[in-house]
This record gives sequence, structure tokens and C-alpha cells, in this order.
Amino acid sequence: MATTEELTRRFRDFARTGTHSRAPLYSKLAAAMADDPDVVRLLQAAPEPQQIPVLLFASVHHLLLGGEGIRLASHYPNLSSTPVDDDPVGAFREFVLGHADELTELISTRHTQTNEVGRCAQFLPPFGLLAAEVGTLAHVDVGASAGLNLLLPRYSFDFDPGGRVGRESTVHLRCETRGNVPVPTEMPHIAASIGLDLMPIDVGDDEEVRWLEACVWPDQADRFARLVAAIELARAAPPDVRRGDAVADLAAIVEEAAIHGHPVVTNSWVLNYLPYGARLDFVAALDRIGAAMDVSWVIAEAPGQTVGLPVPTTDPPEEITVVTLVRWRNGERTVQRLGTTHPHGYWFRWEPADA
Ligand SMILES: C[S@@+](CC[C@H](N)C(=O)[O-])C[C@H]1O[C@@H](n2cnc3c(N)ncnc32)[C@H](O)[C@@H]1O
Repeated sequence: MATTEELTRRFRDFARTGTHSRAPLYSKLAAAMADDPDVVRLLQAAPEPQQIPVLLFASVHHLLLGGEGIRLASHYPNLSSTPVDDDPVGAFREFVLGHADELTELISTRHTQTNEVGRCAQFLPPFGLLAAEVGTLAHVDVGASAGLNLLLPRYSFDFDPGGRVGRESTVHLRCETRGNVPVPTEMPHIAASIGLDLMPIDVGDDEEVRWLEACVWPDQADRFARLVAAIELARAAPPDVRRGDAVADLAAIVEEAAIHGHPVVTNSWVLNYLPYGARLDFVAALDRIGAAMDVSWVIAEAPGQTVGLPVPTTDPPEEITVVTLVRWRNGERTVQRLGTTHPHGYWFRWEPADA
């Protein structure tokens, strides 16, 4: 269990390390809570790897999304545009200490979770390239979470420059293009979309959905709004996400998908959760599939956190997402680095290079 001093340091680090521009509210709260042992100690209820400030913040956000804490909620940009007063710190402290039991229950049983639909803008250009090469695609998203990135064909995209792709949608994704990103002129045909996740989120379950929403940082109101819109779309026709392990269960799902079109496996911010050995096993599983059938793999991961993947790169910064396209054709594997992107898909820099 982390000591109070260690937790204090984690709050200070969170407040310091570059989050200010993306999360001014959480930065301010983290800086203030670092001096408040009664608050930081609540995190000791979590398993050690989850004793992180964002778990406390997500737990508080979860209660606010359930309608509690009107005074505090007024400081959350995604919940209100008119704060009732100018001090989020006092309202936060009062709320946390007044809801310690509910928060302890959440902190001890939940872990932070994401499903970032903006990452579909990382997948669409490679899907366009692949559709031009092989025709109809079948999408297998590994670490699919709630499966929202399987709904890519139901979203609309604005690449700037590059143009619009997809029919009008309540989920509209904007992506700045840097360099010559090959934006497809039309949505590629995807005949099947199957997700795989160790702990899938059921979009029909209000509690699970509320937790997923609570894990979005409230300063990023646009991310929050598009997540809510994507969940609404998903509820109308839920994505097919299977419970299973990336390594053990991949082959069966790819084989099933391949009945419908050329199988394209994707993963975004997933393989950093696998230990090094399991990451190598994942690559080996794909190599075995590729020896038996043509398959493609679009990797959108941070190479600094996913050592062992066939991603050509040199000493990348921790947070940069590199998009790599791996093809197996007639048993031969080729690797092509496509470029770098913002982790949430706000921009895509095209820098293709063959490995
Ligand atoms: C950070 S989330 C990313 C979700 C989604 N790919 C996205 O970009 O929004 C990581 C997901 O990977 C899943 N995951 C972690 N280890 C896994 C494994 N061994 N097999 C399958 N899924 C796994 C987690 O359950 C979680 O849903």
C-alpha cells in the first residue's frame, strides 16, 4: 500500500507533469489535494497499481454524473458552463469528505477505463489503403473496451486538409492532417466488425457506461460529448465484443471475421497493458495467422510503452502514438510505418517508411 507521503507525491506529480493545458481543473485540484492527507488517503483502498489521482477523480466524477454534488458539478466544464462560485477546491474537498464511503467503494472495486472514439481517425486512412488493395474488410479490434471503435463506418470524419468521409452522424470526428495523409474519398466497405476484450464494457449497462464516461477528464468536454454520442449510437445497435484474451482468443476471431472479408486486426493503446512476454506471444499469434491466410494489422500504440512490436522507430517520446501497418501476403510479412498521431486522434502526421 502506498504511504500518504507517496500518494501526496503522486498528486503533486499529476499537477506538475504537463497536464495543465489539457486538464486545468484536475491540475488545480491535484495541487490542492496533495496537501490534504484525509483526501489522498482514500486511494489506499485501491490495489497498488490503481492508487493514482485519476482513480479518485473518476470516482468523484461518477457520483456527479449520477446527479450528486450540484455545487461541485458546476465547476466541471462538461457538466456546466456557469460555476456557482470560483473555488472548486473547497467544493471538491467538502464533496469528497462527505461521500467518503461511496468513494471508497468505487475506489476499491473499479479501475480506470477508456474507449476513445477519436482513434477511429487513426484507423480510417490505413483502412482506405487496405480497401483499395484487397476490397471488403473485416475488422477485429483487440482491446475493444465498449466496442465503440468498431462503429467506425457509422461515424463521420473531417480531415483537414483532406475532406469529409462518411455519412452524416451524431459522432463527428475532426482530424488535422500533417503531410500527405491518404484520406479515402469514401468509407471503406467493412463487412464484419468483432471486438475482443478481457473485460468488455456492456453499452447496455448504465453503471458500466457511467463509469466509462466518468473516466474522461471533464476539461475535455468535446471528448466527453463524442463519447456520450457514440454510446447512444452503440445502444441502438450494440457492437459485437467478445470476452477473451488478446493472445489466446485472437486466432478464432480472425478466422471467423475472414469469412466476411479481408481480416484487419487493430489495437490502440492496448498492448502496453500486456507484459513483454505476452506482447511477443501476440506478435507470434499474428505471425501464425499470417502464415495461413492473408491478414493485415494496424498498430496504434506508443512504442516507448510497447517494446517488442514490429514498429520501426528510434527512441520515441513516451506518449507519441505511432501508426504501423503490417501485412501478411502469401505468408510474407512486411512492415510499414505510416506516421504519428495525437493519442486521441486530433492530428495525424503522415511519415511513411518501410521497415
Ligand atoms: C486503454 S483501453 C483502450 C481501449 C480502446 N482500444 C481504445 O483505444 O479506446 C485498453 C483495453 O484493453 C483491454 N485489455 C487489456 N489487456 C487485454 C488482454 N490481454 N486481452 C484483451 N484485452 C485486453 C482492457 O480491458 C481495456 O478495455
